[in-house]
Amino acid sequence: MNHPIPDSASDLVLVRRDGAVMHLSLNRPDARNALNTPMRRALAAALHQAEVDPQVRAVLVTGEGRHFCAGADIRELRTRTMLEAGWAPARLDTVVESLSKPVVGALHGYVLGGGLELALAFTIRLASEDFRGGFPEVKLGIFPALGGTQRLPRLVGEGRALELTLRGRIVDAQEALRIGLVTEVVATDKLREQGMAIAQELAAGPPVAMRAIMECVRRAGDLGRADGLDYERRLFGIVCGTADKTEGVEAWLEKRPPRFAGK
Ligand code: COA
Repeated sequence: MNHPIPDSASDLVLVRRDGAVMHLSLNRPDARNALNTPMRRALAAALHQAEVDPQVRAVLVTGEGRHFCAGADIRELRTRTMLEAGWAPARLDTVVESLSKPVVGALHGYVLGGGLELALAFTIRLASEDFRGGFPEVKLGIFPALGGTQRLPRLVGEGRALELTLRGRIVDAQEALRIGLVTEVVATDKLREQGMAIAQELAAGPPVAMRAIMECVRRAGDLGRADGLDYERRLFGIVCGTADKTEGVEAWLEKRPPRFAGK
């Protein structure tokens, strides 16, 4: 995968470990966690660490303060050149999406623009009751270009994607749930807890099989039906050769919980 060279540790992204879960939290609350270049670098570096550390099996992403993320840093946008925008060296969305480990996003407060686009690249998104999400880019004379125009229609359908991005309309948690933007809504004070519970659950799963699931599902949007089925069958062959498959089947027969080693 195309991971950028890790940058120095930065307090713009808090990095904590909880067992096999790496918990990353956007930490620029005074600017509503707006994504500026140092923060993007810090997040990419932390994701790289998650990828290369075999002890990490899942990632949880949250935001400090009252909001998850207000999108791209508009002050930086002011001076962004055509070259910087068109040929950015490492796209954060593809770094997130190409991670071989599941990424859970716990989204609260304002989740706007690039913040929501980043979340679209996560594996699982849950929202708190105070979630307010949308793509206001058009109001700034631009449009969602951190993968938004590609991932949003796959999630919510073309009609809704066009309506949301052309109007820059903000949706609340219940609407986000109804249209499939998020998969679960939880009480605001329970969001992190529930995000961590899901991340821990995924961290206990069979890593090779889960990686195969993520690759197959992601590719379903790109491949034709026959190629998709063929790809699925090939990865199934690989997964059937893992020690985790033996462990999963034996554990079931012995009526005990499985212990997956990722092999
Ligand atoms: N980029 C840079 N700074 C941002 C920002 C962004 N996307 N969003 C918020 N901030 C900064 C504000 O400039 C302000 O800084 P200041 O205190 O130095 O003036 C601070 O964060 C608080 O913002 P404020 O607007 O006062 O907070 P709020 O709680 O009243 O409103 C938002 C929150 C998110 C609704 C509002 O800040 C907003 O609309 N932000 C822009 C969202 C957007 O268009 N995103 C797409 C970017 S492409």
